[in-house]
Amino acid sequence: MAESLAFSKTSDRKIIYDEIAPQIESLTAGEPDLVANLANIAAVLREAFGFFWVGFYLKKGNQLVLNAFQGPLACTRIDFDKGVCGHAYRAREIVIVPNVEEFPGHIACSSASKSEIVLPIFEKSGEVFGVLDVDSDRLDDFSQIDAEGLQKIVEIIESFI
Ligand code: SME
Repeated sequence: MAESLAFSKTSDRKIIYDEIAPQIESLTAGEPDLVANLANIAAVLREAFGFFWVGFYLKKGNQLVLNAFQGPLACTRIDFDKGVCGHAYRAREIVIVPNVEEFPGHIACSSASKSEIVLPIFEKSGEVFGVLDVDSDRLDDFSQIDAEGLQKIVEIIESFI
């Protein structure tokens, strides 16, 4: 297991996503504990990019429930018809919100959060297992580069759930 994270000090996020994906793969390979793996992935993403909040909400019954995360205190349960997370869950697709104040139904866990990206994580059956939620304290902080980079990390998660 890697003991420390290595990534370039660059503002080019594609380079960083390409560097951290194999490290996440080796970090999680052979480790069967889901929360341990998700916790380390949240830590890697926050350390590599300095995001305001990075974490997972997993489907439990008829809600999304907070799981491993890095960042400030967050809301614990999200109904499927609420928030950006609920929207990504229902739409089964990546949602980028450039300005959370303009997203109807956005759940404000912190007033410092300005933009957000949420990616669904699929079980092998095709059901949505949960979502990866990344928040930034800057407006319009997420692009297609983040969608593609984070999707590769979601695919690593999908390989072990
Ligand atoms: N803003 C999210 C809720 C989770 S927090 O951002 C950590 C939403 O609207 O679903």
